[in-house]
Amino acid sequence: MMRHSPRHSSSPSRTARTEPPSASLWSAIRKGCYPHQLSWLIDNPLRRLIIRPETLADRLPLTPSSRILELGPGSGYFSAELARRIPAGRLELLDLQPQMLAKARRRLDRLACSNVGYAAADACGQLPYEEANFDLVLLVTVIGELSDPGTALAGLQRVLRSGGTLAVHEHLPDPDCVGFARLRRIVEAQGFRFMRRWGRGWNFTASFERP
Ligand SMILES: C[S@@+](CC[C@H](N)C(=O)[O-])C[C@H]1O[C@@H](n2cnc3c(N)ncnc32)[C@H](O)[C@@H]1O
Repeated sequence: MMRHSPRHSSSPSRTARTEPPSASLWSAIRKGCYPHQLSWLIDNPLRRLIIRPETLADRLPLTPSSRILELGPGSGYFSAELARRIPAGRLELLDLQPQMLAKARRRLDRLACSNVGYAAADACGQLPYEEANFDLVLLVTVIGELSDPGTALAGLQRVLRSGGTLAVHEHLPDPDCVGFARLRRIVEAQGFRFMRRWGRGWNFTASFERP
């Protein structure tokens, strides 16, 4: 299975080099970037039993003109609900895998969401947005896949306006699920201020303010 993490593409780890080509999809999922070929799994209607897009959107400080960056939207499970709630705003989707963005675009076009932009890029590199461009940045089951979360969070801090919100949702059975205590440590280390948590340790949303 192809790996998309820059950590693996630029300097493959020992494990990656010795892995047989027939390595299972499960091992690919466990080690990094969630493969776009399995987007059907995260789009499964049963996921609504864990977290509904409407529930997550209710937890976010949205106004009709909010400017949102959704980092790692995958095939857009949450994106349509976000776009729908900001008719006079803008939703930018940034994902490492162009194939995921293509799926998200198909879904949002079908729903006639015209307030959405798409960018294929690595969140651990330079983000293609102006400073203080967003009111809200959202990451759902993404942070555990990042090769360098510190660098990514520093970049997110640059593109969030002062007083803006960084919202992170994590849940099992995502194999990269980051627990609340660890998440809080990683995010606060980059200067964000913890605001609020909804839900339990294995299925929660946490919000942080950019000072
Ligand atoms: C498990 S999927 C979650 C998708 C979506 N947030 C959801 O919950 O349905 C993780 C997504 O993060 C993206 N991703 C992983 N590492 C990334 C990086 N360094 N930069 C940008 N996107 C990344 C993957 O391509 C994938 O689409």
